[in-house]
Amino acid sequence: MSNWKHIRSDQGEGWVLLTLSRPKVLNALNRELLEELNEAVDWIEKTDSVRVVIITGSGEKAFVAGADISEFNEIKAASQAEQMALRGQSLFRRIENLHKPVIMAVNGYALGGGCELAMCGDIILAAENARFGQPEVNLGIIPGYGGTQRLARAVGKNMAKYLCMTGEMITAAEAQRLGLVQKIVPAPELIKEAKQLAGQLAQKAPLAIQLIKKSIHNGLDVDLGTGLQLEASYFGLSFNTEDRTEGVNAFLEKRAPRFKGK
Ligand code: CAA
Repeated sequence: MSNWKHIRSDQGEGWVLLTLSRPKVLNALNRELLEELNEAVDWIEKTDSVRVVIITGSGEKAFVAGADISEFNEIKAASQAEQMALRGQSLFRRIENLHKPVIMAVNGYALGGGCELAMCGDIILAAENARFGQPEVNLGIIPGYGGTQRLARAVGKNMAKYLCMTGEMITAAEAQRLGLVQKIVPAPELIKEAKQLAGQLAQKAPLAIQLIKKSIHNGLDVDLGTGLQLEASYFGLSFNTEDRTEGVNAFLEKRAPRFKGK
């Protein structure tokens, strides 16, 4: 693990907690932080002892308040802005497609790039004071790190348009009602709850977790018939693992399974 300037990391039994840390600017995503996050993903991908990832923001006020607006005036051409969006999108896609569950522990504002980052997680755990929104329209721009795409897929076309067009912030409770947030916890409990959930997921069969993720992701991009066929083939792959033997035998022997990811 590297010594990052804007990311703190903490490891426990099977999980790593990454805390994005630029508290003076509400953890806004500048180039440096995005590069470090890319390095963190490299490290997570090759570190077998990390089975679950938690991402949160430093401080009590914000998860991430968006891309760093102070860097925007350096952009002089549409093509430069397009490249910026593509770089961010490719990093966020890597996070979304990690072969390990990613819990986004949203501890405050998740705006613009922050909401877009949260939507790349598998599970969004939100503190009661969390706020979600895509306020780019107020800057005269549109979301660029996947907001129009993932929000529409998460909450439906018209609600996504409403949120992106008004720039309105929604509460954790409203985000949960829309299906964006899976669980809300009191702010002081957020990290404890995230670690507990991570610990629970770290005990599951890693290959099964990986195949569940792939089956849902790939299935959503195709018609139902093709998706069901994909599920059947991943079901087949999950049967062909040592962890299946272990899981089934443990059930029959009335003991807890010990999964190895094989
Ligand atoms: N970029 C850079 N700096 C930011 C920032 C951002 N996204 N968000 C907050 N900050 C800075 C503020 O400028 C302020 O700095 P100073 O103390 O030096 O003035 C500091 O963080 C604290 O913020 P506020 O004083 O504004 O705090 P507040 O409690 O009054 O308001 C807020 C909080 C509502 C989140 C407000 O800061 C805000 O609206 N931030 C911008 C949110 C935004 O527009 N995000 C989208 C960015 S564009 C984007 O993300 C594009 C994309 O899709 C890739």
